[in-house]
Amino acid sequence: MSFETILVETRGAVTLVRLNRPQALNALNSQVLGELITAFAAYDADASQRCLVITGSEKAFAAGADIKEMSTQSFADMYGGNFFAGYDHVTATRKPWIAAVSGFALGGGCELAMMADIIIAAENAKFGQPEIKLGVTPGMGGSQRLVRAIGKAKAMEMCLTGRMMDAAEAERSGLVARVVPTDQLLDEALKLAETIAGMAPLAAIAVKEEVDAAFEMTLKEGVRFERRLFHSLFGSADQKEGMAAFVEKRPGNWTGK
Ligand code: HXC
Repeated sequence: MSFETILVETRGAVTLVRLNRPQALNALNSQVLGELITAFAAYDADASQRCLVITGSEKAFAAGADIKEMSTQSFADMYGGNFFAGYDHVTATRKPWIAAVSGFALGGGCELAMMADIIIAAENAKFGQPEIKLGVTPGMGGSQRLVRAIGKAKAMEMCLTGRMMDAAEAERSGLVARVVPTDQLLDEALKLAETIAGMAPLAAIAVKEEVDAAFEMTLKEGVRFERRLFHSLFGSADQKEGMAAFVEKRPGNWTGK
């Protein structure tokens, strides 16, 4: 696979994706989206890969959707072309992925980070939904995922004013799992990814499905869904292996079966 706007490498069982449009602070244009869809689908399909980290540069995770690409578009272009719908392919990724955010995560950049299963932030990270300053609204899920992540009060304030939230506030508000020193962001994100990659693969997919279901289901439905997935894992070799490994005081040797 060859890409122009992202860099993709594998490190053991971890796929590392770097947004790579430094001249535009990693603004997300259609080419970036197309390449992300291909890279994420390849990750999901490759049984040797068990976690993915997406990151940007130190200055910017991504400063938004590409304003220059959007500026001359008409309603018919956007609505008729279902602009941004391609991100549904990214969020359809079944295996876990982490956004490692340094610098600006604005507009679509913040929204892409919020599509991840976990956000880990550098101390210099800044999150925001400044679309209102451009005369539009969030368009890649920001008005929905931000409310779910940090609640209505702060989400409404951020979307109505476009103000940025720093890393400390983002951690306090529940937007990010952890804040780390800026120069350690990638190492920490890769360590976290390796930890997740070391878990039983089917259980990792199931955990992700269950936690995501909490946003879609009532408590009663969600608990039932969780229980059924839990039951189903007793049909896997990795459940036998994991429990035997505990009893024998050794690490589990997963097959993903
Ligand atoms: C296209 C962008 C861009 C973007 C930055 N650039 N953000 N190009 N789309 N979203 C480009 C600049 O035009 C500039 O290119 C280069 O990147 C460096 O940016 P500067 O502005 O010179 O850097 P700096 O002064 O450090 O300011 C950083 C910044 C600022 C505060 C992040 O760039 C900024 O405000 N960017 C826009 C943030 C934003 O509004 N994001 C939301 C986008 S809309 P040149 O060629 O001039 O050197 C969105 C919503 C999607 O995401 C859904 C609704 C439609």
